[in-house]
Amino acid sequence: MERTYVGDLKENIGKTVKLEGWLQTLRDQKKMQFLILRDPTGLAQVANFKPNDEELAARISQVNPESAIIVTGKVVENPVVKLGGIEVQLETLTVDNLAESPLPFDPFGETLPMLDYRLDWRYMDLRRPINSLLFKVETLVQQAMREYWSQKHFVEMHSPKLTSSPSESGAELFSLDYFDRKAYLTQSPQFYKQMAMAAGFERIFEIGPVFRADPSFTARHMTEFTGVDVEISWIDSHEDVMEFQERWLQYVYQRVKDEYGDEIKEIFGVDIVVPEVPFPRIPMAEAVRILKERGYTIPAEKKGDLDPGGEREIAAYVKEKFNHDFVFLTDWPATVRPFYHMRLAPDSPLTRSYDLIANGLEITTGAQREHRADILAKQALEKGLHLEPIQYYIDFFRYGCPSHGGFGLGLARLMMVLLNLNNIRESVYIFRGPTRLNP
Ligand code: 4AD
Ligand code: MG
Repeated sequence: MERTYVGDLKENIGKTVKLEGWLQTLRDQKKMQFLILRDPTGLAQVANFKPNDEELAARISQVNPESAIIVTGKVVENPVVKLGGIEVQLETLTVDNLAESPLPFDPFGETLPMLDYRLDWRYMDLRRPINSLLFKVETLVQQAMREYWSQKHFVEMHSPKLTSSPSESGAELFSLDYFDRKAYLTQSPQFYKQMAMAAGFERIFEIGPVFRADPSFTARHMTEFTGVDVEISWIDSHEDVMEFQERWLQYVYQRVKDEYGDEIKEIFGVDIVVPEVPFPRIPMAEAVRILKERGYTIPAEKKGDLDPGGEREIAAYVKEKFNHDFVFLTDWPATVRPFYHMRLAPDSPLTRSYDLIANGLEITTGAQREHRADILAKQALEKGLHLEPIQYYIDFFRYGCPSHGGFGLGLARLMMVLLNLNNIRESVYIFRGPTRLNP
């Protein structure tokens, strides 16, 4: 018999159907047994009249909650049933996989255990409806991104994750044995997406894994995350990159709102607000001044960079002043940016770069890249880098590479912002951090 989904029971009244799902609860009464079966489309009540078949009834009593079960039965209308006024009258039951008892925790319980314990039992935690919605939304987010890219003639790339040199900072590198030498897990597709510009692809994107040996235990850092990267040729400045990114994000938000707005409101309690373009833009020098005015002191060791508290304070300012949830902070000092960012003007201490802050959280860094090999090499040396390991990269710019720029966005951070989650561990399928390699 073909499987029927709970969501399609209404169209099957009077028929005998097969349902496959999890036994969410069993109410075992004197004469009746009520099984609440859950599948990805909803919950259904399955009723068994015990005197019909004592042996079957005894078997049902032994099925523990969260077991994977297959039932067949006749779909009938029953106005007193809370789940859509429909009930399935049980005919057969097969236990596909019996859940042990007790469960590590009840995903449908009134209270949930601590996050870390839930991460130990992540597959149980993922059974909660809030999580199934999260990953449906994330799927749509990526689909919408691709729709927009394809309308704008972007090409998808998959760059290697094994590399011979760091692209961001040497401190956050995972190294591994690569035959008779060292290799690194990629910190960003940065160099390879720029190579695509030298190859003449002009507009590319990649969604792929990124690794950072970052020993921090924050609510926003992972040692492995999914990066969304974009690179665009023939730009005049980082302004062109920001213009692309804000429209692209607006499109994604609109698609999410149209398809899941109501469900997100119901389950996450969040109103999806499609951001207006242009997003506010604030040069960093001004941001620092604004923070000072508001009495916020950036920790001295940041040396021109912004700390998370500063990001939140600027976001609060932007919300008050522009009623906007997004802000581009632009023109960062070269001292806190990677060597490959182009300077605002020749020898300027500032760069053609930006961070996108959303609801007080950095979700993107972007920039125009220095595409003149000689200046690029000079900037690398100024940062104290050795040229030899990155010579292959500098060579990309020797034989006709157009001006270009792009950005990297953390997918899990975007999901945090979109669904108002306060910990990245809740917004990613399986979290990786310094002390978590399992599951
Ligand atoms: O800001 P990042 O380090 O920038 C780059 O990697 C550049 N190559 C991007 C570019 O094209 N100029 O990383 C980009 C984004 C961050 O804004 C953040 O959203 C996310 O990646 N990210 C992390 N997400 C989770 N855990 C971490 N440890 C992250 N580090 C960065
Ligand atoms: Mg950054």
